[in-house]
Amino acid sequence: MTASIRFLMCAPSHYDVDYVINPWMEGNIHKSSKDNAVEQWQALYQIMSETAAVDLVKPQSGWPDMVFTANAGLVLGQTVVLSRFLHRERQGEEPFFKQWFEAQGFTVHELPKDLPFEGAGDALFDREGRWLWAGYGFRTELDAHPYIAQWLDTEVLSLRLMDERFYHLDTCFCPLANGYLLYYPAAFDAYSNRLIELRVPAEKRIAVNEADAVNFACNAVNINHLVIMNQASDDLKQRLAGVGFEVIETPLTEFLKAGGAAKCLTLRLTEPIQSELHAEAAIESRTLYLEGHLLDLGLINQALDLIVEGGGSFQVLQFDLGEQRQSMSSAKVKVSAPDHEVMEKIMSQLIDLGAVALPDEVCDAQLESVTQTGVAPDDFYSTTIYPTEVRVNGDWIRVQNQRMDGVIVVSQTTEGPSAHCKLLRDVQLEEQVVIGVEGIRSVRKLDSRESRPAEEFSFMGAGVSSERRVELVVEQVGWEFRKLRDQGGKVVVVAGPVVIHTGGGEHLIRLIRGGYVQALLGGNAIAVHDIEQSLMGTSLGVDMNRGVSVRGGHRHHLKAINTIRRCGGIPQAVEQGVLTSGVFYECVRNEVPFSLAGSIRDDGPLPDTHMDLIAAQADYDRHVKGADMILMLSTMLHSIGVGNMTPAGVKLVCVDINPAVVTKLSDRGSVESIGVVTDVGLFLSLLVKQLDRLTLPYSQVSAR
Ligand code: ARG
Repeated sequence: MTASIRFLMCAPSHYDVDYVINPWMEGNIHKSSKDNAVEQWQALYQIMSETAAVDLVKPQSGWPDMVFTANAGLVLGQTVVLSRFLHRERQGEEPFFKQWFEAQGFTVHELPKDLPFEGAGDALFDREGRWLWAGYGFRTELDAHPYIAQWLDTEVLSLRLMDERFYHLDTCFCPLANGYLLYYPAAFDAYSNRLIELRVPAEKRIAVNEADAVNFACNAVNINHLVIMNQASDDLKQRLAGVGFEVIETPLTEFLKAGGAAKCLTLRLTEPIQSELHAEAAIESRTLYLEGHLLDLGLINQALDLIVEGGGSFQVLQFDLGEQRQSMSSAKVKVSAPDHEVMEKIMSQLIDLGAVALPDEVCDAQLESVTQTGVAPDDFYSTTIYPTEVRVNGDWIRVQNQRMDGVIVVSQTTEGPSAHCKLLRDVQLEEQVVIGVEGIRSVRKLDSRESRPAEEFSFMGAGVSSERRVELVVEQVGWEFRKLRDQGGKVVVVAGPVVIHTGGGEHLIRLIRGGYVQALLGGNAIAVHDIEQSLMGTSLGVDMNRGVSVRGGHRHHLKAINTIRRCGGIPQAVEQGVLTSGVFYECVRNEVPFSLAGSIRDDGPLPDTHMDLIAAQADYDRHVKGADMILMLSTMLHSIGVGNMTPAGVKLVCVDINPAVVTKLSDRGSVESIGVVTDVGLFLSLLVKQLDRLTLPYSQVSAR
C-alpha cells in the first residue's frame, strides 16, 4: 500500500437511480440492484485499498449520487474547490462534502452561486502536475475555470465536451502516468482536440474507440502503472500493456446505470504539486452590449446560442426588458472563450448580430496593409449584408458598397478616412484592410419596430397552408410591385429558363410592359429558349402549345442561337426585324436592360452572354445597385450569385419548385427575404392577375 496516495470514497448504502440527469440514467430508474452495487463497490474499494489509502465520507440518505465522490470537489494540496452542482438533484450533497473537507483541515473555496463546477469529474490534473485539464459544456461553466486557476495556482486548459453521453470530463478523458493520455477524441470539439494534440505528443495519446468509451474505459483510476476500470477490450489492454500499464478490470455495471464508473466513485486527495508552475488560464472574457427588439426578433437567443455553439460561455450581466411592444430591450452580456482564437470567431458573429463593445472597451479598427495584389491579410474581417461601420481615428464611419463575403478597405481621402467593401481579388497593394474584430459594428435595423420592413414584408408563421402561402406572397409582391412602380423604384428580376418552359414567359412579358421590371438578369439559356419559342414556337424542342416534342426539335435552340449570332446580338435582331416577340424582345422594346451571365454548359453562346465571369459579376452588380426588390425565379445559380452581392434592406423574393433553393436564399438571416415553393409559371400568372386587380377601379375590385 502506498500510504502517500489517498483517495476519498463513499459507500453505496443510499445509492440508487432516483432521477435522470444524464443519458445513462434514462430508463434505469430504480433498476439497479442494491446487493450487486454493494458487491461491486466493495471490490473496487478492495483493489484501491491494496495500493492506496482510502478515506470514507458518510453516505447520506436522500442523496443517492453521493457515491460519486469525484464530484465532491477538486483537491490540490490542502486546498479544495468545492463543487457547485448544476442540477438541484445533487446540490444537497455540497454541505456534506464541505463538512468532510473542513473536518480534515482543507481550505475550502466556494464558487459564486449559479456558476456550476462539478469537481474532479470535470477537472483532471496532468499526472505530472504540469497543468489541469478542465471540461465544460455540460456540467461545468467555462467561467468557473479562471477561479480554479487562481485558487489552485495552476494552469488550466479548457476542453469542450460535445457528446451528452460523456457529460463529465472524466467519462472520456484520463491522464495517465508518464505523460500518457487515455481518451475518446470524438467527445470533444475540434479546438479541444487540437489543444490536446499540442500538449500530448502523438505517441503518448491512447485514443479509445466508441465501444470502449461506452464501457467507461476512460473513467479509470490511475495509480502509478495500474489502471483500474470497469472493462476494456483486449486491444485496449494490449495497447496499454505495450506502454507499461497494467489494466485491472472490476465490473461496475450497477454504477454505469447512473452514468459513472471507477473514476467517478473515487476522489484523489493527493495530487502532485509543481510549485514552480503558476496560475494561468487562457480564457478570455469581454463584455458586449446589445440593444433592440431582442426578444421579439429572437436576437438574444440567437446571440446566446451562437456563443455556446461557438465554444464559449456567457453571463447575462444585465437585461432590461422593454415594457411595451415598441420599447427596445438592452442586454449586457459577458462572453468567455477558452482562447483568443475562439473569442474572435464568436465576436465576429456577434458583431453581425449588432452587438457592440462597451464604450470604454471600444478601440479603433485594426488595419493591415495588402502585400500582394488580390490577396488580403490572413486575419481579414469578412463582411455581411448588414450596414457596417468601422472606427477610424476615434470616429465611426459607414462602409460603402456593403455586400457579403468582402473585406473592408480603409483609405484616406481629402475629406478624411473612408471605408469600402471590396472583394478579395480586388484589393490592391498597400491598401489598408480591416483585420480582427475590434472597432467594427454592424447596424441591424432594430430602432423602430414599426418602420422596419419586416413588419410589412415578413411572413406569417407556421399554420399557413402552402396554397394560402403562395396567395399571400403573391398579394404582398403585387402590392410592392405597384408601389415601387408608382414611386419610381427599382425591381430586378433574376430568371431561369424554367420560366419559359412553364409558360411563364407571357406573364413576364406583361410585367415588363407594365413597367414593373427595371432589369432582367439570367443565363444564356433563358434567352436562348425565349428566342427559340419566339422564332419557332418551341422551347428546347417542345411545342409550347401542345406540350409535345417536335420532330427535329433538338436543333431548334441551336438554330435560334445561330440566328441571333448572325444578327450580332439580341438588340440587333430586334432592330433588324428578326426577333419580333418574346421576353427579350420586350426588354429591348421597353428599354429594360438585361444582363446574361455564361456558364460552362452554355451552347452558343449568344453574343450578348458574358463568358468572362468576372465581367459578368461586375455587370450583375451594376444592375443590382440601387434595387429595392429582387424577384428570383427558378434559378439557383443566378439567384445565389445575386444574393451574394445584395446588401440588407433589399427585399428578396425567391420562387422555386425546389424547397432547397428557396431555403438557401431566404435563409440569409435577413428579415427582408422570403421564399415560396411553387411552380414559377403559376406564380407569375397569379401575380399578373393580382396586379390587374390592383389597378382596376375600386367598384370593380369589390364587385369580384
Ligand atoms: N449520476 C451522476 C451524475 O449524473 C453520475 C456522476 C458521475 N461522476 C463522474 N465524475 N463522472 O451526476
